[in-house]
Amino acid sequence: MLTIAVSKGRIYEDALPLLAEAGIIPVDDPKKSRKLILDTTREDVKIVIIRATDVPTFVEYGAADLGIAGKDVLLEHGAESLYEPLDLKIAACRLMTATPKDLTELPRRIRVATKYVKTAQSYFASRGIQAEIIKLYGSMELAPLVGLADCIVDLVDTGNTLKANGLEPRDLITEISSRLIVNKAAMKMKHAEIQALIDNFKQTLASR
Ligand code: ATP
Ligand code: PRP
Repeated sequence: MLTIAVSKGRIYEDALPLLAEAGIIPVDDPKKSRKLILDTTREDVKIVIIRATDVPTFVEYGAADLGIAGKDVLLEHGAESLYEPLDLKIAACRLMTATPKDLTELPRRIRVATKYVKTAQSYFASRGIQAEIIKLYGSMELAPLVGLADCIVDLVDTGNTLKANGLEPRDLITEISSRLIVNKAAMKMKHAEIQALIDNFKQTLASR
């Protein structure tokens, strides 16, 4: 039996065609069902539906053999405890700094609102910028508008969310996409099945 951890929403939607190519089609639709463990058309594969930020934890502890997680989440979690064999090139976006559009100069010590605390800390430290990081769990764009922070670190795709809130992107921290992650013990114990799945995903990606 193989268990794959996936988050509901954009990663799940983007992963469906890849999974389908490997013969894995969920029997239930997580948009309609409250089930968290989904049977699939492959008797030996189950999908567990969890929060995006929890995917590396489930895989690290072996509660799921494999997972699909954004690079943003993996950078925060730390990837030493996991294998990351494949860039699935789905849910692509950029992790960026952003500030109010009319801002000309930042203070010497800046306040940064973000849910990516570790990544932001190491980014500003590597540039010798003094930054106080304020941890938020969402709606980062609001922070500069209400005086909570000078700057945010958040994901940008179309840029519409920034624009709608009078912000603009500044510096690119890193490109983001979703990665296949694998539990280290499972990679040994279930090597043939997992390798077959990796090869299948690779083939599908190569044909895109
Ligand atoms: P959680 O439920 O844990 O708070 P979330 O609400 O951020 O997570 P999603 O919005 O579904 O969950 O995002 C999941 C992943 O999709 C992110 O970790 C990131 O890798 C990617 N992602 C987020 N926003 C975008 C976007 N606008 N465009 C493309 N990819 C995105
Ligand atoms: C993500 C991210 C940004 C937005 C960027 O939010 O946190 O707010 O997408 O995308 P854009 O550049 O195309 O506007 P999401 O849509 O996932 O909302 P959430 O963080 O509230 O879940």
